[in-house]
Formats: sequence, C-alpha cells, structure tokens
Amino acid sequence: MPFHVEEADNRLMTQLTVYTDAENPETLLETEDAEDITATLKEIDVRLRQWEVIEALTSGGSQEEILAAYREEVARVVAEEGYTFVDVAQLHPDGTPEWAEKARGAREKFLNEHTHDDDEVRFFVGGSGIFYLHVSGKVYAVLCEPGDLLSVPKNTTHWFDMGTRPDFTAIRFFHDDDGWVGDFTGDPVSSRIPDYDSTVARRAARHQG
Ligand SMILES: [Fe+2]
Repeated sequence: MPFHVEEADNRLMTQLTVYTDAENPETLLETEDAEDITATLKEIDVRLRQWEVIEALTSGGSQEEILAAYREEVARVVAEEGYTFVDVAQLHPDGTPEWAEKARGAREKFLNEHTHDDDEVRFFVGGSGIFYLHVSGKVYAVLCEPGDLLSVPKNTTHWFDMGTRPDFTAIRFFHDDDGWVGDFTGDPVSSRIPDYDSTVARRAARHQG
C-alpha cells in the first residue's frame, strides 16, 4: 500500500473515529492521540494497550516464532485474564490467482455486525485492521496498528474489516478452543460506516496534506 512507502520512517498511528449509527452517520470524533483513544474506549469497557513492536516480525513469521518472541507479554495477559488458548492468525498477499478469492472470503466472514460469547482479544504483530464497536448509538472504529493489543468484552456488538487487500499478523487469546463463531445480529449498520480501505486512504491523504 502506498502509504507504507511514503511514511516508511514514521510509525503509523493508531486511529479512533467515532460515528453516530444514523442512516447518514456523522463523525463525532477522530483522533490519533493514544491517551484520547484509550480514555474514549475505556468508557465502553474496551481496552487498548501497547506492547513494543518487534520489527523483524511485522511482515509475518511462524506461529512458534511469534509466540516465542512475545512470550513474556503473552504470559502476562494469560495469567491476568485466564485465557487458555493462544494462536496466531495471519494473512498476506501471496501473488497466487487464488489469493483474491481467499482474501475476499476472509474479509467477509466478520464484516457484518456480530457478537461472541468470549472476549475478542487481538495483538497486532504486523499490518492493520479496523475493529468497529457498536455501543449505545455510536460506532467506535479503531484502526489498529502493530503494537496494539485490543480487548473487546464478550457480547459487544462489533465487526472487523481487514480491507480488500488483507495483510496482517495477529496474536489471538481465547478462553476456550472450541471454535471461534460469530452470532450475527442482522443489523446492516456496517454497510453505512466508512470501511477499512476508505479510512486508510483518508488518513494517508491527511498525512500528506
Ligand atoms: Fe468478532
């Protein structure tokens, strides 16, 4: 993606945009200030923390390698919050003809509003994605970047957009390993809030301007 090249020297900043969930959503807040983001998310019980990024793993690696490299941080979260299963999910463009289809399928899986009966806890080792949390008439769009650990409590209505060209590596934490399923609400709200591609393009344009 072009902004990676143009901003190679600057760490991409985590961004929070808060929208109304109306037919024509209004933007209530947009910030890249880490304290602002953390404080705003805390109001809806969503926790955002930052770990130091291991640069060598930002474009991916084996699950063993990644879990070993972040061993201490992972162990701390597991001990504090009682997770029993940790794995690594990743998707990177591989240039094969099948990739576009795979990418579309992966993106669409959690692109509509849903809940889970477990917390959704993700640490971004590399790449990015947007978690959209739909709480009390507002949508909190958290554009996560490497180093971000986001904890979404169980039963929070949300969706996730990895963009049309998914490229990310994330450590996932679960309380059990019996399959990660979504309970879909049927609310079409996700279709009227700016998606990953447009959010990232808008951020890149703003940084250039
Ligand atoms: Fe989810």
